[in-house]
Amino acid sequence: MTGIEQRQVSGTGRDVVAAVVAQHGRITAMMREVGDASDAAARREAFDVLRGYLAQHEAAEEEAVHPVAGTAVGGEAVAHQRELEETGAAQQIKRLEELDAGSPSFGVQFGLFEEAVDAHATAEEKEELPLLEESMSPDAVAAALEVLAAVGAPEHRGAGDFAAMLAAARQRFRAMMAAP
Ligand SMILES: [Fe+2]
Ligand SMILES: [Fe+2]
Repeated sequence: MTGIEQRQVSGTGRDVVAAVVAQHGRITAMMREVGDASDAAARREAFDVLRGYLAQHEAAEEEAVHPVAGTAVGGEAVAHQRELEETGAAQQIKRLEELDAGSPSFGVQFGLFEEAVDAHATAEEKEELPLLEESMSPDAVAAALEVLAAVGAPEHRGAGDFAAMLAAARQRFRAMMAAP
């Protein structure tokens, strides 16, 4: 679907919130699969799927959600805090990428990472997303829905480390938002 076709789809800030919350549910399920994996190879595979999806989700938020929340009354500090948490999560993923998925340290580090991601998603849902319901312009809604709909596309699963995946996803979403 092209950007032009997608942007004709109307929606509200509530639809943006629903899309973000649905993605949080998917991330929770993907994290559980990493924890439940039966062996190291399955755990590595589940972790790769998770980090590919998470890179796109966080990139979509960084491009189309946090900047909008940041313009709401009292939203600047809230959005900034979420960005700091995302930077922290990226550092945790970097450490996990360097570990053997079958090692006990991976299990410990992944448990901490899962807790941080859960807390981050809860903070977004409680503190940041309510700001969007009030403050999003129709253009911002259309752009955010377009970008969020592109999260998880199989052809953009991503390659390389998390930082590279994040950079590629941000570039892709920026280009989508800049398209007429
Ligand atoms: Fe986020
Ligand atoms: Fe999120």
